Amino acid sequence: MQPVHEQEAAALEHTRLLNAQEVLFRQGELGEAAYVIESGLVEIYSERGDEREVIARLGANEIFGEMALLGDRTRSASVRALETTRLLVVTPKHLGERLEGADPMTRHLLRIAVLRCRELLARVRSGQLRLGGLAPPLPLPKADPGDEGAEVRDRNLAFGRLRIEQELRLALERQEFQLHYQPIVHAANGHIAGFEALLRWFKPGVGRVPPDEFIPVAEASGLICSIGRWVIQAAVEDLLRLDDARRRAEPTAPPLFMTVNLSARQLEDPELLPALARHAERLRGQGCRLKLEVTESLMIGNVVLMQALIASVRQLGMHVVLDDFGTGYCSLSYLHLFEVHTMKLDRSFVRGMAVSEASQKVVGGIVGIAHALGMDVVVEGVETDEQAAQARALGVDYAQGYHFGRPVPLAESLPLLARGP
Ligand code: CMP
Ligand code: MG
Repeated sequence: MQPVHEQEAAALEHTRLLNAQEVLFRQGELGEAAYVIESGLVEIYSERGDEREVIARLGANEIFGEMALLGDRTRSASVRALETTRLLVVTPKHLGERLEGADPMTRHLLRIAVLRCRELLARVRSGQLRLGGLAPPLPLPKADPGDEGAEVRDRNLAFGRLRIEQELRLALERQEFQLHYQPIVHAANGHIAGFEALLRWFKPGVGRVPPDEFIPVAEASGLICSIGRWVIQAAVEDLLRLDDARRRAEPTAPPLFMTVNLSARQLEDPELLPALARHAERLRGQGCRLKLEVTESLMIGNVVLMQALIASVRQLGMHVVLDDFGTGYCSLSYLHLFEVHTMKLDRSFVRGMAVSEASQKVVGGIVGIAHALGMDVVVEGVETDEQAAQARALGVDYAQGYHFGRPVPLAESLPLLARGP
């Protein structure tokens, strides 16, 4: 944990408070950041000798200073606050990956638009062109009444993600993340075999943020790598605690396993494998108790990287789980490419089993193929007794779902084990 004053310093890097009349930057200076106005009002103006020409006044939810980041870094105009103003800081780091990820035409159009705007501003400065008064704020047209319009929607999405990204940067230090554990049971008898670690974010003053709101932002910003390493570390520590609880209740019970989810960016995280090696050591030669879940689409999209990762992970004795099997591709042809230990069938299969005999045959067939390839099979989304019985009858090895337990914090997972088998 960092001391509080350092945390505050980190928070300040992401926001900036201006007093009324304070000049943020002057035209011609080199710019390192753009700003989103959280509250307050700023004035954009061009300077020529002692003369000032006001170009625009911008208020809450508007962005400025972006031209320096999109072009040659020099400020095309000066900016001062007209009242106390709070700004969200947007750094080149925030924009870099998004711009790299944009298609070449989009990047080209952006550059052209910025160049043209700069050229006009240069003419204003040299006196060749007069604005003849304050430019109106940029129009953000509304498509239909009730429809907020594509421009506003894009802006809200972009700024919303930016805010989440800033908060995510602080969330690790502030210990706002928690892991919840969902039991994975032996299908044959319902005994707990292990747990899946699931990331939860509790934001102070807001509460739980749904994973689909913050995981994509963590992915896009690369923050997922450090968050992912924290997840693995915390999950391993909790695995040892869960195991202690299990052994106290049932001294001869086999050790539990823990699965953690890997995301695309982590495949290229140079610190991932060294961290895994340290965890393998902590598990005292039982690396197989840590299983890495990688989704089917991620594997297929990164065949070479995945093969290399699987080989390294196998050397550490850890297991790889093919997660969400059957979503999207539903193809068996790639299975031989990956030496994974476990196949996790998507919940849609379980739902299908309850309503159609054909689905049961499909699941039975997949179980046969998986077993023939030396993999064991987990089904996800088991919610009823009937589904549990069907999974058992079809030879599925492990099952997971609300029927056996929801994801809960460690404190609530421990008593599940103390009860014994
Ligand atoms: P930058 O060149 O980094 O610094 C000055 C900023 O003024 C510039 O980015 C834009 O964000 C902003 N700016 C320039 N021209 C206009 C304009 N016509 N209307 C509103 N803002 C502008
Ligand atoms: Mg998973």
